[in-house]
Amino acid sequence: MKATAKAHTNIALIKYWGKRNESIILPTNSSLSLTLDGFYTTTTVDFSEEYTKDQFTLNERPIEGEQLRRVTGFLDLIRQHAGKSLHAAVHSVNEVPTAAGFASSASGFAALAAAGSKAIGLDLPERELSALTRQGSGSACRSIYGGFAEWEMGTKEDGSDSYAVPIAPAEHWDLRVAAVVLSSKMKKVSSRTGMKRTVETSPFYQGWLDSIPAEMNQIKEGIKELDFEKVGEVAEANCLKMHATTLGANPPFTYWHDTTMTVMETVREMREKGIPAYFTIDAGPNVKVLYLPENEEVIKNTLRTIPGVADIRLSRPGQGVTYL
Ligand code: DP6
Repeated sequence: MKATAKAHTNIALIKYWGKRNESIILPTNSSLSLTLDGFYTTTTVDFSEEYTKDQFTLNERPIEGEQLRRVTGFLDLIRQHAGKSLHAAVHSVNEVPTAAGFASSASGFAALAAAGSKAIGLDLPERELSALTRQGSGSACRSIYGGFAEWEMGTKEDGSDSYAVPIAPAEHWDLRVAAVVLSSKMKKVSSRTGMKRTVETSPFYQGWLDSIPAEMNQIKEGIKELDFEKVGEVAEANCLKMHATTLGANPPFTYWHDTTMTVMETVREMREKGIPAYFTIDAGPNVKVLYLPENEEVIKNTLRTIPGVADIRLSRPGQGVTYL
C-alpha cells in the first residue's frame, strides 16, 4: 500500500501566530498564505505488514529521535482515521534549502498527509486532508492548495471546522517572492516555542488578535482586485504586528538580526523610488520580499548588494498537493 505525493511550502501574508489547542493544533487566528513553486517536498509512504516499526528517511538519510517521533505520531493519526495498524516506511526528499529560511515542515507535513492517507486507502476531500495536515504542523494545512489559501481558524473544540480553503489559484496572479538569505545565523527560538511564549506572556497579544479580521478582509479584497499595493501594505503591517508581540513576551525575544532591519529599510527605500516591493518575515531573521515580475531584475540586484546578504532565491506562485 504505497503512494507518493508532492507539496510546496507557503509564505504567510497574514500570519498564524498562536494556538488555542496545542495537541490538535487549533489556532487563535485565521491566516492566509501564498504557496510557492520553488520549494517543495516529495514523500513516499509505504504501509506494509512486513514492517515491525515505522521508518523515516529524509534526503536518503535515516532519521531517528524527535523528528522520527513527529512522523510516527502523525502516522498514528492516519492509522486511527483508517482503522488500521500497519507500520510504514516513509521516504522524503526536500527541495526546501534550510538556508532559504522557509519552514520545510509546511511542505513536509502536507506531502506526508497526502501520501500517507492515499497509501492507507483513505480518499479524503481536500478540507479533511487539510484538517489532518494541520495536526502535523499548523502552517502546513495551507499547502494543500496552490496559490492563495486561507486557514479558517474555526470555533469547534474538536477542530473539525479548522482547515484551509482555496482563495485564488496560482494562475490568478503572478505575484513573486524573493527569499533574502542572511549570512549570519542567530540562536533560534522555534515558531512553536515563540508563539506559545507570546500567547502566554505578551501584553501585546490581544492587540494582534484584534487586528486580524480587518486585515484579512483587506488582503482578500486586494488579491481579488490584483491590487499589489493593498496586498503588500497589509502583509507588511501584519508581519510587523506579529513581530511586535515577541518584544512584549517574557522573556522578551526577537527574530530580527541587524541585516534583517537593513533589508526592511532597503525595501522601503525602493518604494520611495517608485519600485513597488513589500517585505514579510517568519520566525527567523530572513526576509521575504514581495514584488511583481516586471521588477524582478531591479529587486534582485538591489537586494544582492546589501552587506550580510548571502543569497537571493526567487519564487513564483506554486501548485497544491499532487500525487505522482
Ligand atoms: C511564523 O506552522 O511552524 O511561520 O503549528 O507549531 O508546527 P506549528 O507551527 P508552524 O508556525 C508557523 C508560524 C509562522 C507564520 C505562518 O506560517 O503562518
